[in-house]
Amino acid sequence: MNIPNHIGIIMDGNGRWATERGKKRSEGHKAGGKTLEKLALHAKNLGVKILSVYAFSTDNFKRSDEEVSFLMDLLIQYFNGKLNRVCEEGIKIVFSGRKEPLRKDVLEAMENIVERTKDNKECILNICLNYGGQEEIVDASLKIADDINNGIIKKEELTRENFMKYLYQDLPPIDLLIRTGKEHRLSNFMLYQSFYAEIYFVDTYFPDFLETELDKSIEYFSNRDRRFGSVKTN
Ligand code: IPE
Ligand code: IPE
Ligand code: MG
Repeated sequence: MNIPNHIGIIMDGNGRWATERGKKRSEGHKAGGKTLEKLALHAKNLGVKILSVYAFSTDNFKRSDEEVSFLMDLLIQYFNGKLNRVCEEGIKIVFSGRKEPLRKDVLEAMENIVERTKDNKECILNICLNYGGQEEIVDASLKIADDINNGIIKKEELTRENFMKYLYQDLPPIDLLIRTGKEHRLSNFMLYQSFYAEIYFVDTYFPDFLETELDKSIEYFSNRDRRFGSVKTN
């Protein structure tokens, strides 16, 4: 099987998973957290080098205060202990997104897990938190404008490749982009990095997207003929 180097997952459907089971939406987020831990370990064992996951979008601040604070508290629990296995198995954790307006205790927990895993070499788990793809492109453009003004880079030296170095994390492009939970849209996830991603939409709600579901998405990926704009010659 052809293993994608970089997988992106839009982890959607936690709320519907819970409501359809007569539970509170928060139960769905808890279940989603457990699934993420399993998927990160499984992806590492398969040889995936980077896993980028959409944990909280800039637009998710439009949700109720109750849901937002539940999610923030849950994320803190994950960064302060619930991801211990992931940390111990050599996975380096990085974040993509804006700091503002995240709470101080969330930012501290993020810094702690980044510091704790910074020397891990097996693979990278890039957690997109308070993340927006358009915001990322705007923020990169502002950094580029500064670098041009300060003579660090010349206008004519900017290319689509070195533009990527200005994004929140300097990562290779996404090869396989998965969205769980029935919707067929990007919802502002890693727009720049997904430019040639194979896209896999699956009805399964995120909490149920377990190891064998990830295997199926990789099998789908393996059967794609990636042409990158050229014409196949054989
Ligand atoms: C994804 O599940 C998790 C986050 C966006 C934080 P949702 O909470 O969007 O679940 P649905 O889409 O309402 O089912
Ligand atoms: C995308 O899901 C964001 C995350 C998975 C964190 P949403 O549930 O926020 O997306 P929409 O609102 O259905 O587009
Ligand atoms: Mg959703």
